[in-house]
Amino acid sequence: MSSKVVTLLSGERMPLLGLGTWQSPPGAVQEAVEVALDAGYRHFDCAYFYQNEAEIGAAFQKKLVEGRLKRDELYVVSKLWNSFHAPQDVKPAFLESLTRLKMDYLDLYLMHSPMGFLNINGELMPQKDGLLLYSDVDYVDTWQAMEKLVDEGLVKSVGVSNFNISQLERLLSVCRIKPAANQVELHPYLTQPELVEYCKSKGIVLIAYSPFGCPARPFPTEENSPVPLLENPTVNEIAQKHGKTSTQVLIHFHIQRGIAAIPKSITPSHIVENAEVYDFSLTPKDIQTLEGLNCNMRFIKWNVLGLETHKHFPFSDQ
Ligand SMILES: NC(=O)c1ccc[n+]([C@@H]2O[C@H](COP(=O)([O-])OP(=O)(O)OC[C@H]3O[C@@H](n4cnc5c(N)ncnc54)[C@H](OP(=O)(O)O)[C@@H]3O)[C@@H](O)[C@H]2O)c1
Repeated sequence: MSSKVVTLLSGERMPLLGLGTWQSPPGAVQEAVEVALDAGYRHFDCAYFYQNEAEIGAAFQKKLVEGRLKRDELYVVSKLWNSFHAPQDVKPAFLESLTRLKMDYLDLYLMHSPMGFLNINGELMPQKDGLLLYSDVDYVDTWQAMEKLVDEGLVKSVGVSNFNISQLERLLSVCRIKPAANQVELHPYLTQPELVEYCKSKGIVLIAYSPFGCPARPFPTEENSPVPLLENPTVNEIAQKHGKTSTQVLIHFHIQRGIAAIPKSITPSHIVENAEVYDFSLTPKDIQTLEGLNCNMRFIKWNVLGLETHKHFPFSDQ
């Protein structure tokens, strides 16, 4: 059976299965988190950008007050949005997430991406003439402000998201606290073997986002897109062989290799289904077959609004 937790460079233990919350509307996310807590989820992937942290916090609060859950059993993650990369903006943005989540510390705080935007009254996507307004803040300076949150006991571990190998390399060469995790898009259509190997060699734990290929993605589907991951016949075949579902196989593909997975769902039956992943194992051949589906397909389009011209744009393949 696969391990349920992974130990980070900080020494903290992170549950490998988490609940994603992007595009979980405020009106539905509280119930989703409560269902997830009852189904055994302990890791919750949140972000300032998702604009639903207050409702997630209400679910935590309800279960904590009922006495059915202790704070130290939860693993709460949030992310610093791109508009708050200036060192003086880091702590206020963090505190806003902390307050909305009704917590007095977070377990993991991630830099959402290496790309800073201008902070114009806290706008999430500051634009002029349809183009995003970048800031020239260096993510290393942002990181140093995040390290201070650890010093102050406000967060147990810090990490990054959407960083490529050279950005990680640069951060590692100057940081005081090493990034504990890098959260990136990972699934059989985007296996990123070099990044996986690099992070493993440095002890940086990967967190796989969009493990199902984000079927409800708000981006246009490219003409050459492969069949949706959840409908892929190879994935379905492996699932059938194990008497499991495709989503359970896609989650196991990561957790079996010590990579965390954070599937999003607001549908109670899906939330429960996605947690039933500890009663089977994929064979090395299954893993190899799934890896063979790689076609470098990124479903999350970061090249929106011309973002590929940002000097810290991490995806040369977009
Ligand atoms: N760091 C970053 O930049 C970044 C970027 C993207 C995502 N993320 C994180 O990763 C999380 C997951 O990624 P994602 O939201 O892009 O997509 P995903 O987890 O790949 O897919 C979510 C979709 O799958 C559906 N689904 C879930 N369980 C299912 C099941 N058992 N059967 C059939 N359909 C199912 C969901 O619908 P229902 O809700 O109806 O179940 C939803 O439409 C996000 O929510 C977010 O927390 C981070």
